[in-house]
Amino acid sequence: MDLSQFQQAVELLRSAQHISVLTGAGVSAESGIPTFRASDGLWEGHAIEEVATPQGYRRNPQLVWDFYHARREKAAQVQPNPGHVALAALEQHWADRFDLITQNVDGLHQRAGNLRVHELHGSLWRSRCTECGDIAAIPADFPRTPTCKLCGGALRPDIVWFGEMLPGDVFRDAEFAAVECDLMLVVGTSAVVYPAAGLIPLAKTSSRANNVVAAHVIEINITPSSASDHVDVGLYGPSGEILPQLLAALN
Ligand code: OAD
Repeated sequence: MDLSQFQQAVELLRSAQHISVLTGAGVSAESGIPTFRASDGLWEGHAIEEVATPQGYRRNPQLVWDFYHARREKAAQVQPNPGHVALAALEQHWADRFDLITQNVDGLHQRAGNLRVHELHGSLWRSRCTECGDIAAIPADFPRTPTCKLCGGALRPDIVWFGEMLPGDVFRDAEFAAVECDLMLVVGTSAVVYPAAGLIPLAKTSSRANNVVAAHVIEINITPSSASDHVDVGLYGPSGEILPQLLAALN
C-alpha cells in the first residue's frame, strides 16, 4: 500500500463531516464468502441464469431455494472480519452522519454492528411473497419449499436478481446518502454493476455536507477496479487489513 495515499486517506477521514460507504463482495471475502467475478461465469457450480434471474426461479423454484438455503447456511457459519468490525466502529464515531450502502446480501455488516445499512440487492435473511408481496424475516425452522403465512402464495428469496429493479425506497436512501456525504469509501467492489456503481459519480458531483460541492472518494480494494480512475485516493490491499489500519490511525 502507498503510504502517502494512506496518509491522505487519514486526513480526509479526519475532516469528514458525513461519510458514506459503498461495499461489495470483497469486504466479505476474508470471512470466507466467495466474490462473484473471480471465476468462470458459474456461481458455485450453477449458471447465473438458473439461480439469479426471475426466469430461472419460474423454471425451477426448488433449485433456486436450495441454492439460497445453502448460501444462507454458509453465511450463518462465517464471522464478520476485521474490515466489517472497523466499519461498525466508524459508524459509532460518526453516528447519524454515517451511511453504509452495501451490494452484499450476507448480513455481515449488521452482525458486526452497523445500524444504518442500505441493502441495495436484498438479503439472504428475508423472503418475499410472489402473490401479496409481503416481506418477512426467514425463521430458523424455515421449510425447504416455503409458502406465505398471509396468503398461501409461493415465497421467493428477497434478493434482487438480474434484470430486476432495485427496491425504490432503499435506492432513494442510498442516493441521498451519496449526495449528503463529503467522503465516500468504496470497499471491495468491482464497480461494474449499475445502478450501485453510479453512486460513486453521484457522490463526486454533489455533496451537501461541509458546504463543499463534491465528495472525495477513497477506494479500498485488493486490486484497482473500474472505479479507480475516478477516485481521489486508492488503497490497494485486503480491506480486512486496511480498514483497521485506518481506524487505528484516526485514534
Ligand atoms: P465482484 O465479485 O464483482 O467484485 C469483488 C471485488 O472485491 C473485486 O473488485 C475484488 O478485487 C475485490 N476484493 C476481493 N477480495 C478482496 C479483499 N480481501 N479486500 C478488498 N477487496 C477485495 O463483487 P461486487 O462488486 O460486489 O449483484 O458485485 C456487484 C454485484 O454483482 C453483486 O452484488 C451481485 C453481482 O451480480 C446481484 O446479485 C444483484
